[in-house]
Amino acid sequence: MREIRSFVLRSGRMSAAQKRSYGLYSRWRVPFAREFLDSEKIFGGKNPLTVEIGFGMGEATALIAEGNPDKNYLGVEVYKPGVGKLLWEIEKRGLQNIRIIEHDAVEVLACMIAPASVHAFHIFFPDPWPKKKHHKRRLLARSFTGLLAEKLVKGGYIYAATDWEDYAEWALAEFAAVPELVNPHAGSFAPQSFAPRPPWRPQTKFEQKGIAKNHKIRELYFVRS
Ligand SMILES: C[S@@+](CC[C@H](N)C(=O)[O-])C[C@H]1O[C@@H](n2cnc3c(N)ncnc32)[C@H](O)[C@@H]1O
Repeated sequence: MREIRSFVLRSGRMSAAQKRSYGLYSRWRVPFAREFLDSEKIFGGKNPLTVEIGFGMGEATALIAEGNPDKNYLGVEVYKPGVGKLLWEIEKRGLQNIRIIEHDAVEVLACMIAPASVHAFHIFFPDPWPKKKHHKRRLLARSFTGLLAEKLVKGGYIYAATDWEDYAEWALAEFAAVPELVNPHAGSFAPQSFAPRPPWRPQTKFEQKGIAKNHKIRELYFVRS
């Protein structure tokens, strides 16, 4: 369907534990399909749905889901070792409210997520693609930002964080250009209008790498009007 993708499949080796989890705990995985998923059926209930895109090794996903058993979490990632790791976390912590789709999130959103069905999107430290010739691979750009807005319920939110200043400014402008999205922090730190760090967001692996390089962390928060 798409030619320019926001990822290059990393060839990371899976640890023995990740491989074992990948095989043993596949009941938490949902296969990619070209039809809208029935959230009530896959989670066994009507709790609000959060979709996390690019969960990496899934540390933040597991902690957030564990702290919010009354919400459902759908993690979308293409990195197999990360899928294996999160499957292991789900089992270890006895979590009932996470499902995983191992596929390109852009196609997952377009094909599997019904309009106005998602309460929140979490996108922590998306690949920054810093070189200008690679900017076209950046995930937080139109038309994807519009697709995210279309899938949100009214009052639902998109929360993203990045340690790349120019990507943060770029993404802010891309979100601000979507008419259905409102930035409650517009003007707070003018001219950028970033959000304060929310207390519920655990530190992620890529955030730690950014901090080690003295990068400033930027938080973006938009609400579906
Ligand atoms: C820089 S890493 C951040 C991982 C994690 N969120 C963190 O903060 O540590 C970005 C992740 O997004 C995933 N990714 C990028 N584009 C994606 C897409 N279109 N669909 C699914 N996953 C994607 C990559 O595989 C990678 O694991």
